[in-house]
Amino acid sequence: MTENKNLSTQKWYASWFDSPFYHILYKDRDYNEAQHFMDNLTSYLNLPEEAKILDLACGKGRHSIYLNSLGYNVTGADLSENSIAEASKAANETLHFKVHDMRDTCKEKYDAIFNLFTSFGYFENDADNLTTLKAIHNSLTETGFACIDFMNVDYVIANLVPEEVKTVENIDFHIKRYVKQNHIYKEIRFTAEGEDYHFTEKVQALRLTDFEQMMEEAGIYLLDIFGNYKLQKFFKNESERLIMIFK
Ligand SMILES: C[S@@+](CC[C@H](N)C(=O)[O-])C[C@H]1O[C@@H](n2cnc3c(N)ncnc32)[C@H](O)[C@@H]1O
Repeated sequence: MTENKNLSTQKWYASWFDSPFYHILYKDRDYNEAQHFMDNLTSYLNLPEEAKILDLACGKGRHSIYLNSLGYNVTGADLSENSIAEASKAANETLHFKVHDMRDTCKEKYDAIFNLFTSFGYFENDADNLTTLKAIHNSLTETGFACIDFMNVDYVIANLVPEEVKTVENIDFHIKRYVKQNHIYKEIRFTAEGEDYHFTEKVQALRLTDFEQMMEEAGIYLLDIFGNYKLQKFFKNESERLIMIFK
């Protein structure tokens, strides 16, 4: 569990994703790849120019900001107040950011809802996954589409690097990865400004069959499945991503 002192009573995903160290460790996130993916996804969905898009679990808004630059009316939503504060620096009349829990249905309806870069499967309680899917479904317009971009668990497990040290901004992040009780764990230990930290990322090892089952239960129609950001076919053992399009 997350050990960050006064944050220790929060869920790990609320404290770690809100911590400045999370943003330091992942500061080199691939913006080009994110933009190519958004180009491919929006043209595949054939979204009209004035479409309203919700980037659900937007982090600091790398996808939201790019989607808005393409002309879409975009809302980025995330549980992390710090990420939303940072993303909000880029806000404008057609780009908004808000603190929001993905389990909650939105007041507004969207033409497209994107949940990108493995922003699903964090909850302790399985029922919350279903609640999130239903909230996405209920926040779509009649003709709207949603996309969940999740890791491909079989590929990730086959290629798991058990231990590594990543040095970013003079901090040595000691990372351990392992699979336990159907979750993929990433333990991150480091020392910064004389303090020792230990965070644990924990994501449920959800496979296509798990999503299919939940979607059926939520009354969601799965339209298409892709295996990478070029939107090529999904192969269970070889694809890096599990990208699901539904309505
Ligand atoms: C792996 S990051 C991805 C961020 C962003 N989509 C990107 O690609 O840069 C996962 C994000 O999910 C957010 N998150 C976790 N639990 C959430 C929840 N219950 N509701 C909304 N956002 C949540 C975290 O704060 C974090 O920003």
